[in-house]
Amino acid sequence: MPALKVPRTEAEPVKRKLKKLNLYGGKRRPKREGDFVLLPVLDDPGVYGLGYEVLSIELPLRPERQIYKNLESVLAERLTPEELKYLRRYDVIGDIAVIQIPPELEHRVDDIVWGLRKVHPFIKVVAKKGFHEGAFRIRDYSIIWGEKRLTTVHKENGVEIKVDLSRAFFNPRMKGERYRLAQLVKDGERVLIPFAGVIPYVLVIARYKNVKITAVELNEEAYKIGLENIELNRKRLKGEIESIHGDAFEVLQELPTFDRVISPTPRGVDALALTLSKARKWLHYYDFVHEEKIGEFRERILDECRRQGKECNVRIKKVSDFKPHVFKVCADVKILE
Ligand SMILES: C[S@@+](CC[C@H](N)C(=O)[O-])C[C@H]1O[C@@H](n2cnc3c(N)ncnc32)[C@H](O)[C@@H]1O
Repeated sequence: MPALKVPRTEAEPVKRKLKKLNLYGGKRRPKREGDFVLLPVLDDPGVYGLGYEVLSIELPLRPERQIYKNLESVLAERLTPEELKYLRRYDVIGDIAVIQIPPELEHRVDDIVWGLRKVHPFIKVVAKKGFHEGAFRIRDYSIIWGEKRLTTVHKENGVEIKVDLSRAFFNPRMKGERYRLAQLVKDGERVLIPFAGVIPYVLVIARYKNVKITAVELNEEAYKIGLENIELNRKRLKGEIESIHGDAFEVLQELPTFDRVISPTPRGVDALALTLSKARKWLHYYDFVHEEKIGEFRERILDECRRQGKECNVRIKKVSDFKPHVFKVCADVKILE
């Protein structure tokens, strides 16, 4: 069985690329070897053209439960094919499984809980997901099984993130995005992250890069959990973190400019002019945009650059689906010298 020998720092993006190309050998486990990771790949000529050494090695097989049992296949035992069509994507945050249950499956809640526990035997809570509410973007959850709590510690990108879903926003699906940005940041940079939440972006970047990061968050609960997260990860962080509790629209006026600004902008908030005005070299600006309006969004950013007397290159990256035809996007804005 072949394996791709990849530098540790590149393992995650290469794994994602392999999965996209259908070349990843998911039945086996990757293995760490010093500064490298051996990624299991399929016996396919495609794996030889990727620019990495291909080794012939027997990587250990994953336990069967992990290979074959996804929620849909497990629930096929209990739900009809018609009902299975309504099954939504779910998240596992620490030991909490979070799932949206549409009205068509309300009568199947017990089966869904049974399926989730079968696929993820370690979970201690199953919560039903409502919608994001208010400026702090906190969702409305109801616990449908297990311990009566919405706090947990989620592991991602080499850091531990304390989360309290009842008090602060957290989205585990941004894991790849956080990793991407951590790779873009250079040692020695000063980075500003408004709308920082429980500071997942801050932690992942500070984990990998020797940088000074300033985080700003308005929700006091999220800010306090963020402080706990700094302590929780203290020993593994290369970078320094300054955390500020306050309204980004007021606090940023008092701050200097930064090499890089990362704005995980809450939906419906326009912080483009503000965040661009604080960026010297790079702005990474998140927003929600209809697929037909991506060109317009790019023009809006270029207009704002001109208005601020900055020459910019703008690249828009689709990060995730938000609703049909609407994407969460990140505008990577490079400010030219
Ligand atoms: C989309 S969430 C992103 C949180 C975090 N960056 C993450 O990825 O988990 C937006 C965050 O901005 C915070 N927020 C909303 N308005 C704010 C403001 N005016 N100033 C600072 N933070 C604000 C919310 O409380 C929320 O935590």
